[in-house]
Amino acid sequence: MDFNIIRCARAILHVKDLDVSRQFYVDALGFVETESDEETIYLRGLEERTHHSLMLKKAASPAVEVLSYKVATERDLEQLASLFTEKGTEIQWLDKGTQYALGRAFRVQDIAGLPIEFFVEMNEVERLLQRYDLYKGARVQRIDHFNCMVADVEETYHFYRKSLHFSCSEYTDTKEGNIWAAWLHRKQTVHDVAFMNGLGPRLHHVGFHLPDPLAIIHACDVLASMGYGESIERGPGRHGLSNAFFLYLRDPDGHRIELYHGDYLTSDSDLSPIRWDINDPMRQTFWGHTAPDSWFQEASDVLDIHTKEIVGQQKGKLKQHKPTFMI
Ligand SMILES: [Fe+2]
Repeated sequence: MDFNIIRCARAILHVKDLDVSRQFYVDALGFVETESDEETIYLRGLEERTHHSLMLKKAASPAVEVLSYKVATERDLEQLASLFTEKGTEIQWLDKGTQYALGRAFRVQDIAGLPIEFFVEMNEVERLLQRYDLYKGARVQRIDHFNCMVADVEETYHFYRKSLHFSCSEYTDTKEGNIWAAWLHRKQTVHDVAFMNGLGPRLHHVGFHLPDPLAIIHACDVLASMGYGESIERGPGRHGLSNAFFLYLRDPDGHRIELYHGDYLTSDSDLSPIRWDINDPMRQTFWGHTAPDSWFQEASDVLDIHTKEIVGQQKGKLKQHKPTFMI
């Protein structure tokens, strides 16, 4: 089938206290608060012209409601819906007006059990890229990628590549030749989504692009000054995979956010995926320092699109390697 998924576009995270979340995301990290009400905060980065890329919803317990991708046209949306329907996967249409600031969309549980969504339109808002007077915290520019733990990476990898037409920029495999993790993209960067072998389906993190590495250093200083030192889980550092400069944070509900800068162009359709050996210590952190155990073991639960219950999780199909990794 012929369709064009443009990019990862937004995540909807459930959080327990919107005021506590606002202090972290807006006051400390510098996300732009497009709008909010008593149940929701809509956030975006400084360069984003879409209404939001991160939606925080008040809920009894933290979870991931959905991970959304923007597609080019209504025809693309219909084609994608047909693809899932023909595979026997039940989809959920959400008509225009059902979701604030969003056009028609559909949701589906992907092959790994992750709740994903596709839409064409989101309300346009003012670009604040050159409102340097508004820059603060991490100076977040835009959403960059999702990173998910799944029980069967190879199955998920093949579905996203063959059925959804994602390209692979980099991957890690074991000496037996099994894909341990894969970085897949639609836009011309290293990834829109990455999948890692592990207890899943779960969301490991949402990555946001920053203007430069110094924004990450400044974010660390601001976070520490505001009493968020313990929110810094891993980094700053440079990844081997993707080459990006990174910092991992845990928000007040435990959701993991990556601040990310410095990957590379992947526009050429004939680029060969870069292979990393699972035992290469430079793949996770180029400088060689290791990540804490929490980073390997903890991730956010995801919800069933129909029941709104947490999706059951399975251990990763591949034998665990130590240390494991992800970016
Ligand atoms: Fe990442």
